[in-house]
Amino acid sequence: MSRSSSRPLPPASAPRRAARGAVYLVGAGPGDPDLLTVRALKLMRRADVALYDNLVSPGVLALLPERTERVYVGKQRANHTMRQEAINALLVEHALAGKRVLRLKGGDPFVFGRGGEEIDTLSAHGIPFEVVPGITAALGAAAYAGIPLTHRDHAQSCVFVTGHLKDGSVDLDWPALARPRQTIVVYMGLLSLPMICRKLVEHGLPRDTGAAVVQHGTTPTQRVVTGTLATLPARVAKAKLHAPTLIIVGNVVRLREKLNWFAPGVPSRRTSRKR
Ligand SMILES: C[S@@+](CC[C@H](N)C(=O)[O-])C[C@H]1O[C@@H](n2cnc3c(N)ncnc32)[C@H](O)[C@@H]1O
Repeated sequence: MSRSSSRPLPPASAPRRAARGAVYLVGAGPGDPDLLTVRALKLMRRADVALYDNLVSPGVLALLPERTERVYVGKQRANHTMRQEAINALLVEHALAGKRVLRLKGGDPFVFGRGGEEIDTLSAHGIPFEVVPGITAALGAAAYAGIPLTHRDHAQSCVFVTGHLKDGSVDLDWPALARPRQTIVVYMGLLSLPMICRKLVEHGLPRDTGAAVVQHGTTPTQRVVTGTLATLPARVAKAKLHAPTLIIVGNVVRLREKLNWFAPGVPSRRTSRKR
């Protein structure tokens, strides 16, 4: 098996070789196109084909050149447009055809993104690849919701976990999560929100611990519902939020009351704060 790690990756500016292309696994961030890295934008401008999933925002996709072929390989909870194996095979196929392949993934490719599996396949096929980190949803959504995840008055640690239900249950280390002075960010947890709040209280967190759900963080449709472990599930059900959402648990959530700065949907006025 040849390993791609020993192969020099063609620089983005190099002329494309006929024989073998390369795959650029690029984090597209949480939604706001202004949060893309400079490297991501450079690679987007030179891509022959872009494979993107459902979390890549329309604003980011709009930055792809006209000539770039777009392939939607999106995955949603109940609707797997394309299985992971098929995506891996498509990346290999395009690269072997000599193309510069952009694999655009929401947030960061290595944070609940299965980026490792994709480059493992590329590595096994000897295909050169590069990984470009992106702003993961937890960081983007917290920043735009005015929730400083590790404000030192309230938190010493911050953990990211998945609330995705596997076989109908969320298998998390509840005692490790329910620690004082710790912020918890739950990805893919909307459906399990009532259970998550209940379990954290059962394992020792006070019922009045601050908690929030951020819908569509960093985008014009961002909405934030706040409450406590006791009140949040009912508030969220009433607000009828839609995925993608993140749950943030910890007393840092209370800071939003004074630190909320982002005015979603007001392009000319990104801040709601008077200067
Ligand atoms: C499969 S994970 C991918 C995470 C991604 N790789 C990242 O680093 O952000 C998908 C989950 O990320 C969260 N997510 C992604 N974008 C989001 C956004 N703009 N606002 C809130 N949550 C988001 C949601 O919990 C969603 O269900």
